[in-house]
Amino acid sequence: MIKIAPSILAADPLNLEKEIRAAEKAGCDWIHVDIMDAHFVPNLAYSVDTVRRLREVTDLPLDVHLMMDHPETLLDAFLDAGASCLTIHAEIDADIPGMLTKIRNRGRMAGIALKPNSEIELIQPYIDMTDLVLMMTVEPGFGGQKLDARVIGKIRLLSDSGYTGEIEADGGIREDNIEMLAANGLTVAVMGTALFRNSDMAACIGRLHRIPAV
Ligand code: DX5
Ligand code: ZN
Repeated sequence: MIKIAPSILAADPLNLEKEIRAAEKAGCDWIHVDIMDAHFVPNLAYSVDTVRRLREVTDLPLDVHLMMDHPETLLDAFLDAGASCLTIHAEIDADIPGMLTKIRNRGRMAGIALKPNSEIELIQPYIDMTDLVLMMTVEPGFGGQKLDARVIGKIRLLSDSGYTGEIEADGGIREDNIEMLAANGLTVAVMGTALFRNSDMAACIGRLHRIPAV
C-alpha cells in the first residue's frame, strides 16, 4: 500500500487544526510539512512552531521537508519540536552527512531530497545514511503545479537499485498520475491540492490505498 502524506501547504493556514483532523479522519498515513526560507526556494512557509503545535494535535508521523539553504541552524529545533522524518536537500552547500547522522541518532527518519533537474548521482554519497529519498516532481516552492514526468525515470532507477528506504514523490501528484508513479517504485505520495481541494478526501484516500505498490 502506498502511504499518503497530505501536504499542509494546500490547507487553510487559519484552520490548520481542523484540516489536520479531517486528513487524519480521512485515513492519511503521514502529514507532510513544507518549510521554505525564501532563499533556497522563492517562497516562505511554516516554522518550527508549526511542527511543535502539529505534534500536540496529532499522533501521525510528521514528515518535515526542509526547503532551506542552512537547515543546520534549525535542525535541533525541528527534532525537539517532534519531526518524525526530517528531509534536507542534496543541492545545498552544507555538512549533509553530519545532519543525516544527527537525525538518525535522535531516532528519527533521515531523508534526502532532489529537485527535478538534479542528477540522481547527487544523492549517491548519502544514500546509505538515509531512510527516505524525496524526489521533487515539480520545481519546489509552490503547490498546484504540473508533475514533471521526467522524474519517473529517477524513481525507477532508485527502486531498481534495491534501495530499501521510502521513495517519496512531491509535487503535482493526482489520481490520474499516481498509478504510474506507484508502478515505478513510489512508496510515499505527497499530495497537496489533490487532497485539500477535494470534496471527499476520505473516498479519495480510500481509492489511493487500493493502488498496488511494486
Ligand atoms: C512544493 C511542495 C509540495 C507541494 C505539493 O514545493 O514541496 O509539498 O505542497 O503540492 P501539490 O500537490 O499541490 O503539487
Ligand atoms: Zn514538500
